[in-house]
Amino acid sequence: MAQDAAAGEKVFVKCKTCHEVGAGAKAKIGPPLTGIVGRQAASFEGFAYSESFKKKAAEIGTWDEAKLSEWLADPAKYAGGTVKMVFKLPNEAERKNVIAYLATKK
Ligand code: HEM
Repeated sequence: MAQDAAAGEKVFVKCKTCHEVGAGAKAKIGPPLTGIVGRQAASFEGFAYSESFKKKAAEIGTWDEAKLSEWLADPAKYAGGTVKMVFKLPNEAERKNVIAYLATKK
């Protein structure tokens, strides 16, 4: 299935409780996601990331679509420990679309 950024914008409604994206986005419950595709994992200055995620971030390096999809499917499983994002996006098409949307937000 092709990626659909417009459909992904609708999926992002689920993320908005915790995340802002775009110019001037600020930290909420989660870090802002502006420029997340290609950004170093767990690197938003001043955000109190979990220890498990900070450890995993060294291995993740910069986020790409494949890694973001694994994170979104099950953050704790991907990080291998307790993380602060207690939300999963099990639907693969939704993951692809929301990542395509995020890729437009630089
Ligand atoms: C972290 C995406 C939903 C809370 C992250 C990160 C990404 C992300 C990419 C890593 C950020 C970084 O490396 O700086 C998303 C997307 C969502 C979503 C696309 C919707 C599909 C949520 C929801 C919550 C949440 C609903 C709150 C209930 C957090 C928190 C972290 C985080 C607290 C930091 C994790 C830690 O330090 O362990 N999210 N998220 N997210 N997210 Fe989300």
